[in-house]
Amino acid sequence: MTHKLYEKYDYVHKGNPVMVDRYTKGARINHWIGAISMILLALTGLMMYWPPLFPLSNLIGGGQVVRTIHPYIGVVMVISFAGLFFRFWRLNIWENTDLKWIVDIKDVLEGDEEKLPMIGKYNFGQKCIFWSMSIGLIILIVTGFMVWQAYFAPFVPIEWQRYALLTHSLVAACIIAVWIFHVYAGYWVAGSIGAMIKGKISGGFAWAHHRKWYIALLRANRIKDR
Ligand code: HEM
Repeated sequence: MTHKLYEKYDYVHKGNPVMVDRYTKGARINHWIGAISMILLALTGLMMYWPPLFPLSNLIGGGQVVRTIHPYIGVVMVISFAGLFFRFWRLNIWENTDLKWIVDIKDVLEGDEEKLPMIGKYNFGQKCIFWSMSIGLIILIVTGFMVWQAYFAPFVPIEWQRYALLTHSLVAACIIAVWIFHVYAGYWVAGSIGAMIKGKISGGFAWAHHRKWYIALLRANRIKDR
């Protein structure tokens, strides 16, 4: 059972303060490629979707440049996210205690996490973000390919393309909302941005927010001197 609670690269490092591995360099590179791609995709997508933003396309060479680069950035985003997906999916699987977390969300927001069952490497909110981004990106890449005029759209009936574009726009709006929520949560939970920049969090952070994961590492003696 314990092996399901942490990744093979997670270790606790002795010291003052104690530090705990959270993300490898590879995972962080994948994540930040995803973050930059997301900003570019949202900007270029909205330039094409919403006329008031269209003039912004002149900054990068006009509408034709925007429609050319948008799908390529989408492909980069999906490939990079796949690197995160295959690393993280196991620890984002639903557990019974997740229900309690969402029912008692008030305690989380008021900083009373002590009242809730211990949390593993990811809490329910993080799991929801993970799965909604995973499913959203699959829908976006499939519908995006269906309307990619340079390569695939000529093989797709026009009615299908219309539905694909409608779905693409709706899902894009949802994923932008999820992303804003994700960035805000990272800012709100003091210390978590450090996890995605340096790859490590303090023992105190692990104890406060992801105690089940932290205890599992200690029990398995996954401790290094530094
Ligand atoms: C400027 C943009 C972004 C910022 C500031 C940001 C920030 C963060 C932070 C601080 C964490 C660490 C949370 C923790 O482990 O406690 C994290 C994790 C994560 N981020 Fe981002 N992120 C951004 C964009 C994205 C994008 C665009 C995606 C995917 C499409 C993404 C997917 C993830 C995933 C999958 C995790 C692992 C945690 C989980 O499973 O929910 N992030 N991010």
